[in-house]
Amino acid sequence: MKRTLPLLLLAALSLACVQAAFSQQDMKVLAPAALGKLTRPAAQFNHDPHNEKAKLDDCVICHHGGADGKQDKSVSTEGTPCADCHKVKSVGKNTGLQRAYHKQCIDCHKAKGKGPVACGQCHKR
Ligand code: HEC
Ligand code: HEC
Ligand code: HEC
Ligand code: HEC
Repeated sequence: MKRTLPLLLLAALSLACVQAAFSQQDMKVLAPAALGKLTRPAAQFNHDPHNEKAKLDDCVICHHGGADGKQDKSVSTEGTPCADCHKVKSVGKNTGLQRAYHKQCIDCHKAKGKGPVACGQCHKR
């Protein structure tokens, strides 16, 4: 057990790196499995070009950490779906998943005076 644990950790870590290297580059829309069947067209989010245009170099701006009702912006969690921490139905201090996306995306667009804030601009047919 003492010897297999580090190996397992290493395997998990390299898998995480491979995912980090490939997956977000192909992301064009957001349709997280946790939300199930969407009632609106999936939100436009061309991950890498969006972040380049918006000059968001620091991943933790969106991929924060946290637990027990407290956000932690010193821990970056890229590769972890928002749904791992934000439940579909909000409980207690937990911001629900739909609201978590809306708040993060729209608050920044409003603050910067750039980027879509109307429903149909993100949920494009
Ligand atoms: C403007 C916000 C934002 C920024 C900045 C951002 N991301 Fe993301 N990223 C997202 C969202 C939203 C998702 C989808 C999360 C989900 O599935 O719930 C995502 C998903 C990912 C995924 C998972 C891809 C997949 O297909 O499952 C990886 C890996 C990732 N981001 C890496 C990064 C890295 C590395 C950086 C910094 C260089 C970064 N992100 C910066 C918003 C952002
Ligand atoms: C490791 C766990 C974790 C992950 C992953 C995570 N969050 Fe959070 N987030 C938290 C915690 C804890 C809080 C504080 C309590 C709350 O509001 O739910 C929080 C708060 C928030 C808030 C409300 C505070 C604010 O900034 O206005 C928003 C919005 C948010 N998260 C959006 C997101 C989005 C979007 C993603 C995915 C890109 C994400 N979170 C990924 C743990 C996480
Ligand atoms: C921290 C700030 C920030 C966050 C968070 C953010 N955006 Fe943006 N977004 C911008 C800025 C700035 C622009 C305008 C870029 C430009 O054209 O100069 C933009 C532009 C866009 C556009 C226009 C087309 C494009 O790709 O440039 C879409 C669509 C968009 N954002 C969707 C989203 C979604 C969906 C989320 C949440 C998952 C999100 N954004 C989160 C800052 C942000
Ligand atoms: C800045 C982009 C943005 C804007 C503006 C926006 N949304 Fe969203 N919305 C998202 C993201 C990201 C999600 C989560 C991923 C998804 O559903 O595609 C989401 C999810 C949803 C969902 C849950 C999933 C579904 O389709 O059933 C509903 C409902 C929704 N939005 C309605 C609205 C309405 C109504 C408005 C206008 C008042 C709006 N949204 C404006 C980005 C946006």
